[in-house]
Amino acid sequence: MRALVSVATATVGCMLTTLAVQNYRSLRDLVLPLAQLTVVTGANGSGKSNLYRALRLLADAARSGAVAALAREGGLPSTLWAGPETIGRAVREGSAPPQGTVRTKSVGLRLGFAGDEFGYALDLGMPVPDKSAFNRDPEFKRECLWSGPVMRKAALLADRDGPVVRTRDQDGAWGREPHRIAVTDSMLTSFADPRVSPEVLVVRERIRSWRFYDHFRTDADAPARQVRVGTRTPVLDHDGGDLAAALQTIEEIGDRDALHTAVENAFPGSRLSVRVGEDGRFELQLHQYGLLRPLSVAELSDGTLRYLLWVAALLSPRPPELLVLNEPETSLHPSLLPALAALIATAAERTQVVVVSHARELVRSVEAATDDANLMELEKEFGATVLAERPGVLDRPTWHWPKR
Ligand SMILES: Nc1ncnc2c1ncn2[C@@H]1O[C@H](COP(=O)(O)OP(=O)(O)OP(=O)(O)O)[C@@H](O)[C@H]1O
Ligand SMILES: [Mg+2]
Repeated sequence: MRALVSVATATVGCMLTTLAVQNYRSLRDLVLPLAQLTVVTGANGSGKSNLYRALRLLADAARSGAVAALAREGGLPSTLWAGPETIGRAVREGSAPPQGTVRTKSVGLRLGFAGDEFGYALDLGMPVPDKSAFNRDPEFKRECLWSGPVMRKAALLADRDGPVVRTRDQDGAWGREPHRIAVTDSMLTSFADPRVSPEVLVVRERIRSWRFYDHFRTDADAPARQVRVGTRTPVLDHDGGDLAAALQTIEEIGDRDALHTAVENAFPGSRLSVRVGEDGRFELQLHQYGLLRPLSVAELSDGTLRYLLWVAALLSPRPPELLVLNEPETSLHPSLLPALAALIATAAERTQVVVVSHARELVRSVEAATDDANLMELEKEFGATVLAERPGVLDRPTWHWPKR
């Protein structure tokens, strides 16, 4: 039986072990080892946000949104690595400035990941110019899905070359009928026929379950400060507008002890409650030590509200396969960072977590909260983001890109 069975039935232990990016902004050629909990840090401009965006772009491909997402970033040409194809010895030694040379290979924005069970990679490039006004729409040049941690020809399950997709049949032989799809669509979205290639569907659904949280708004008009009708909410919305319902859901069907610990760790002696009005509106209240009445969500400080948003996101009773957090420390007082680190460690017991952060204090606190974190520091080398060599950093995993 082919790899489908193990792919489809494995719900735990399907951790991603490798993330690979080529030619996306400063990520000229980065292959990162991922652990159950990975914390990526680095100086301003080292490429942390680029890494977060690269992961998002990969997730967008599984929702047929990669081309649109690139357009929002200014189009493929502006997101491609702006440095030379190779960095010569003279440049490395400082005796010559970097110079553009005639490219020997076509440039592609390449993104991929792999776990022990399967891997996936995509390669986006520019179309051959014609008269169309959509000449700048990037195209999928290659896409490969394989079983096992490293791409090998023999391990390919689905292989896309331009508009043509080939898949293996039940016996492992390549299907005789290639399928044609639009070059601007990922095979994950436009070629997901469960009878022909169930693996493509499985991988697409897995990527779609990845969850991303970026900056939450906490200003006076922020969705999280509004009182609204609550429904059962196992997954906090990206804007935090359903915070009260999400916290109440954790209280009723989630890890209630972890919720109380998270509040106690951050605000000793305080307690959360959700008041449900006659009209079904949920109002979050924080009972603070020393106050005669609870504070409503409109009265909470930015930092307090933001911390509660992270509590709701991290203790979700329906954890995703991968949870990616961008700079969760923003606007939190350093004294809250150990509590946030403990929450991140708790979340990592249930789901794979990647945290991008520039707060050293958060990184130190995560290190203190768990032995299982993989800490990585990014640096710039000739404009390109590289992984700093530090003792204890996992080796660069083996990775092969599909060729055009
Ligand atoms: N097309 C490109 N080619 C090469 N480098 C690029 C490109 N676009 C952006 N960069 C570089 O990427 C860097 C910005 O990276 P990023 O935003 O990921 O930094 P960061 O680590 O998140 O920093 P901060 O801590 O300030 O948020 C800039 O230094 C910029 O020079
Ligand atoms: Mg950043």
